[in-house]
Amino acid sequence: MPAIAIKDSVVLITGANRGIGKAFATTALEMGAARVYACARNAAALEALQALDGDRVVPIELDVTNQAQVDAAAAAAQDVQILVNNAGIGASLGAPVTATTDESGLRSELEVNYFGILKMSRAFAGILGGNGGGALINILSVSGLCNFPFAPGYSASKAASHSMTQHLRAELGKQDTLVTGVYPGPVDTDMARALPFDKVSPESVAEQVYEAIAGGAEDVFPDPYAVEFHRQLREDAKALEKANAAAI
Ligand SMILES: NC(=O)c1ccc[n+]([C@@H]2O[C@H](COP(=O)([O-])OP(=O)(O)OC[C@H]3O[C@@H](n4cnc5c(N)ncnc54)[C@H](OP(=O)(O)O)[C@@H]3O)[C@@H](O)[C@H]2O)c1
Repeated sequence: MPAIAIKDSVVLITGANRGIGKAFATTALEMGAARVYACARNAAALEALQALDGDRVVPIELDVTNQAQVDAAAAAAQDVQILVNNAGIGASLGAPVTATTDESGLRSELEVNYFGILKMSRAFAGILGGNGGGALINILSVSGLCNFPFAPGYSASKAASHSMTQHLRAELGKQDTLVTGVYPGPVDTDMARALPFDKVSPESVAEQVYEAIAGGAEDVFPDPYAVEFHRQLREDAKALEKANAAAI
């Protein structure tokens, strides 16, 4: 089973300027990564991260929906061993799907949360294989395993990415790449600011994921909410769906 330690490894993280992505970057530095390619739509937003360690942090301007920028990132980061597909948006949170014909939020969620992961995975598959296999980590969500009614399109985009993660595991397993899906519950970031749940820190998510890939984990539930969600899903998926539906 493929596995990889973050210590002495080269990691690339999308959406590294804030939230969970930034925590993946700072935690990688703390855990001894050799190099951290920190990607953000606005490279200026990476200055604080770069100031932490100018030798190991390499900023890259990257919108994951922009194929030319994805290709340029791959060309600039040929030594990547661990790819963290973290960038994501919640553009249709709270929006009912039957009451409007405006699909713009739903479509942009698919562009970033699904096609963004696909573009990055395609661009870096050969690089990971050439560097010994490494790991491809997709930050998904428990909502991709059972739809959150207050985030219908977001959940659907995460479900699509969950399915693609399973496929990538089948394809890239042949080159010894560990493909790991991460299924967080509520995490204390801008995205979850308005959610009335207990939230874990983004740093705790990053630590758990790096520890998990060192043990070859394919599925990571990095907080108590996610662990309980997964338990309920395995025990009675229909009951979980009904409980979620009762929230609206
Ligand atoms: N927070 C939670 O409770 C939670 C739970 C489960 C899963 N997640 C997932 O965790 C990941 C990170 O979320 P977060 O909570 O850290 O959210 P966040 O604080 O809103 O940060 C989102 C990050 O993604 C970046 N991003 C958005 N669109 C992008 C694009 N087209 N190209 C490149 N970067 C883009 C943002 O960059 P800008 O600063 O330029 O906007 C930002 O860096 C997401 O995939 C999210 O779905 C979050």
